[in-house]
Amino acid sequence: MRQPLIAGNWKMYLDIGKAIKLTESLLAVVEYLEDREVVICPPFTMLYPIGRMVRDKHLKLGGQNLYPAAEGAFTGEISPDMLLDCWCRYVILGHSERRQYFHETDEFINQKVKSALAAGQERRQVNLTPILCVGEREAERSAGNQESVVAAQLSGNLAGLTAEEAGRVVIAYEPVWAIGTGRTATPQDAQAMHGFVRQWLAREYGAGVAENTRILYGGSVKPENVDSLLLQPDIDGALVGGASLKAESFIRIIKYEV
Ligand code: 13P
Repeated sequence: MRQPLIAGNWKMYLDIGKAIKLTESLLAVVEYLEDREVVICPPFTMLYPIGRMVRDKHLKLGGQNLYPAAEGAFTGEISPDMLLDCWCRYVILGHSERRQYFHETDEFINQKVKSALAAGQERRQVNLTPILCVGEREAERSAGNQESVVAAQLSGNLAGLTAEEAGRVVIAYEPVWAIGTGRTATPQDAQAMHGFVRQWLAREYGAGVAENTRILYGGSVKPENVDSLLLQPDIDGALVGGASLKAESFIRIIKYEV
């Protein structure tokens, strides 16, 4: 059985005071939500103080990016081990904002995925699980190309992984036209794409990997639509942007009921 996962991507929002208050509010609730995993992904500068707050708790921490090298002269970048040092157990990779504004290629994202998987294994036997984001743009969907676009991202981003490694990746389907726009995919359209991703995984890595991989939906997830999205058989959780920044809305989302 796939354990549902709800992740909050804080992007470049909040200050440290608000972040700590939000984390305190979440800690009080998440402890009682044992059947699901909840992850928060703050900006890098907040990872250490928030990591100290959550390190022994059910609430988990994730980074929003990494650089695929153990160390080196890479001014401004953060390594997988630096994330592990801050108690991160997840890392968002290949987000559409990074693909668009920072020109990240499928090949570069592939290096990041491999680097996260390797770091997690080498170090203290803890995992640094990639949350790999894929999704089509509006024009690609209008042209009916959403499946080929997502398949190309998956094959580029997961290239060279063994089935065991692929099985340790969480996929987030985030249609670009639904991010920050208030336009959520309908549960039926989202389910169709999640089903497609799972079939793709089955073809590439076998039925076991496909059956166990968590596929999250992202793009204008809100308290009003989370229940109907998570009711779909192939939607195993959510990657939430704007609505993860306020305790009230995010708590309602993590308490989703199907
Ligand atoms: P919104 O929930 O604000 O649409 O953002 C989604 C997202 O990009 C999560 O990674």
